[in-house]
Amino acid sequence: MESALDPHTALALLQWQVELGVSETIMDAPLDRYALTDTEPRQSVHATPDPRRPAMSAPPPKAPEVDPAQEAAHAAHAAASLDALRAALAEFEHCDLKRGARNLVFADGAPGARVMIIGEAPGRDEDREGRPFVGRAGQLLDRMLAAIGLSRSESVYITNVLPWRPPQNRDPLPVEIGMMKPFLERHVALAKPEVLVLMGNISCETVLGRRGITRLRGQWTQAMGLPVLPMFHPAYLLRQPQMKRQAWVDLLELQAKLREA
Ligand code: URA
Repeated sequence: MESALDPHTALALLQWQVELGVSETIMDAPLDRYALTDTEPRQSVHATPDPRRPAMSAPPPKAPEVDPAQEAAHAAHAAASLDALRAALAEFEHCDLKRGARNLVFADGAPGARVMIIGEAPGRDEDREGRPFVGRAGQLLDRMLAAIGLSRSESVYITNVLPWRPPQNRDPLPVEIGMMKPFLERHVALAKPEVLVLMGNISCETVLGRRGITRLRGQWTQAMGLPVLPMFHPAYLLRQPQMKRQAWVDLLELQAKLREA
C-alpha cells in the first residue's frame, strides 16, 4: 500500500509495532511465493516503478562453469619441463588449500634420479620452507635412504600428492586429490624415474586407487607405467617404531630392484 505518512510518523509507528512484539511485516494482499516461477521477478504486488531509480537491467550472463580437474589437466599437460610444471602449479587458483598455505611445496632432491618418492602433503615445516620432507619425518626418511646408500642430493627425487599444506595437517580430501592428480602424473612423466616409492596410504590411494598400506607395503606393483613400491610413511614409523623392521625389509627390496636394473 502506498503510504501517505511522512517518514517520521512512519518510523514512530514502526517502532511502536516493534515494541508490541511485531517481528515480521506482511503485505495487505497474500502472495503465494511457491506459485512464482523462477523467471518471475520477486517483487511486491504493489510495487510501482520508482522514477528516481534507474531501470533494473538484466543480470550479467553467468561465466561458464569451469571443471577444476579439467583445468588442472590442461595446465599440467601444457608444461614441457619441471620448471614449467612448477610455474603452472604456482598459477593454479582452483585449489583452496593454496590460500591457506605459506608456500608451494613442489619437489626436492635430484630431478632425473632413478627413484622418485611420493609423500602425502606438506606439514608445518615443509610449508614454512617450501620443500617436501624437511621435518622430523623427512629427517627419518633421509636416514632410511642413507641406510641403502641413497641420498636426497644425488639419488632420489621427492614430491607429494598435494603441493599445499592442508589446514591443521588434516587428511587431503578426495576432491583435492582428484584435482591435483593430473599435476602429479605430469610430474612423474617429466621427472622420468625408474621406480616410484609411495609413502603411506594417501599416495597409495592416489596412485594405485587402493588403501591398506599394511598389506600393500613391500609388494612391487605397476602404475603410471612404472614399477611401484608402497612403504610405511616415515611419520607412521615415528609413531610406531616397532614397524621399522618391515620398513628395513622394504628398503632392501628397493635396493635389490635398483641393483638388478
Ligand atoms: N609428510 C609428507 O607426506 N610429506 C611431507 O612433505 C612431509 C611430511
